[in-house]
Amino acid sequence: MMNATSLLNAVALKLPAISIDGVPQPWHELLRLAQTGGLKTWQLRGHELIPVVQGGMGVGISAGSLAGTVAKMGGVGTVSSVELRRLHPDLMAQTGHLDEEPDAKERIENANLVALDREIQRAKKISEGHGLVAVNVMKALSAYEPHVRQALASGADAIVVGAGLPLDLPELAKDYPDTALIPILSDARGVQLIVRKWEKKGRLPDAIVIEHPRLAGGHLGAAKVADLQDKRFDFDVVLPAVLEFFKASGIEGKIPLIVAGGISSREDILRLQGLGASAVQLGTAFAVTQEGDASPEFKRVLAQATPSDMVEFISVAGLPARAVRTRWLNKYLRTEAKLKAVAHEKKKCNMSFDCLTHCGLRDGKAEIGQFCIATHLGHALEGDTEKGLFFRGAGTLPFGQEIRSVQDLMDWLLGGIKTQTIHFQSLRHTAAT
Ligand SMILES: Cc1cc2nc3c(=O)[nH]c(=O)nc-3n(C[C@H](O)[C@H](O)[C@H](O)COP(=O)(O)O)c2cc1C
Ligand code: SF4
Repeated sequence: MMNATSLLNAVALKLPAISIDGVPQPWHELLRLAQTGGLKTWQLRGHELIPVVQGGMGVGISAGSLAGTVAKMGGVGTVSSVELRRLHPDLMAQTGHLDEEPDAKERIENANLVALDREIQRAKKISEGHGLVAVNVMKALSAYEPHVRQALASGADAIVVGAGLPLDLPELAKDYPDTALIPILSDARGVQLIVRKWEKKGRLPDAIVIEHPRLAGGHLGAAKVADLQDKRFDFDVVLPAVLEFFKASGIEGKIPLIVAGGISSREDILRLQGLGASAVQLGTAFAVTQEGDASPEFKRVLAQATPSDMVEFISVAGLPARAVRTRWLNKYLRTEAKLKAVAHEKKKCNMSFDCLTHCGLRDGKAEIGQFCIATHLGHALEGDTEKGLFFRGAGTLPFGQEIRSVQDLMDWLLGGIKTQTIHFQSLRHTAAT
């Protein structure tokens, strides 16, 4: 519900009432709200969309509930494919105890594919056919290919790949010409490389996510922590360079750009659309919504973190990452040098299913992280603040520490309206006085 000032502002601007007495209005009201406020809607594979994308967040942070809710509002909602069995007690009962069994890896990965299919169907059901349901798959996963194939077979509208260069994605998706293929990159050089390679395979990206390593959460698209601040990643450097490259290559206007990292207001979207972006992608702000698939404790840790709680480090996947400096992470970082000094190749993966193609811990690579990311992201999903790894972006959140609905977040991002829980009756009273 709106507060009195917001309602009066909305009436003065002839904005549609977007949430009355807690009942969300149809998705097209959000489209109209975006347009009335000067934002541009955008097209992906023939669908007109609001310019807000919810980024994929593993492990289990963005699954069917969050992705479906965002899609229902006319946006792109993204299910993260990694370790989704953790959201399904029956699949955990079948696989959670597996360790030395010779078929442990196969059974765990099968459970993850079943869970991925369930979450895609759940998202599609919640979306009621609006927006698009995407699936995010990390290239660094050992099960990258099966996850992409499952997502395609389960009817994902888009496949979004980060944490590595998805040079093989056009081949993997060749039987699915209607599924949008979207790489995540961080600089103009990466965009040129992927476009050139994909062009040779006869397919262009349907959109590209440009994620800022200085601002985003989770794994970051830079070689080392010292590079995160590099100016070449700034949106006002990357966007003009990429647009210039598109123009010179004769593909101007063909590939929408989605920018990600530190975005929290309508003014941000206006500015970024002014630079040539079609849409923005948010992660942390969606992770802490009521519909977010993580535990309330996970959301609390992210929402309450201040800039001084944030830390960057090298993950076990070999990429820099950004997270909240929780008790476990602090302890790990204090002992990291010692752990690296004794790094050695292990006979067996910590969790039996070799989640990563290259893993600093399992493979004994002393130059990168020395912890089991699958274990600690799993603890975070459950809200275990002692042992969890809580990925988070560096920016501030639109509602501070409050856990609000996706509708509230959309109202704010698209209309600049901060809804409050005031009764309509008292609104009329306030407006009349
Ligand atoms: C908890 C968390 C988990 C994330 N996991 C993934 C992931 O699995 N794959 C991915 O491509 N991006 C991941 N991201 C990045 C988001 O999709 C998004 O691009 C980024 O967080 C945007 O920055 P913001 O958090 O400042 O909005 C994650 C971010 C967060 C906060
Ligand atoms: S040790 Fe942990 S992080 Fe490394 S591959 Fe195995 S499950 Fe993944």
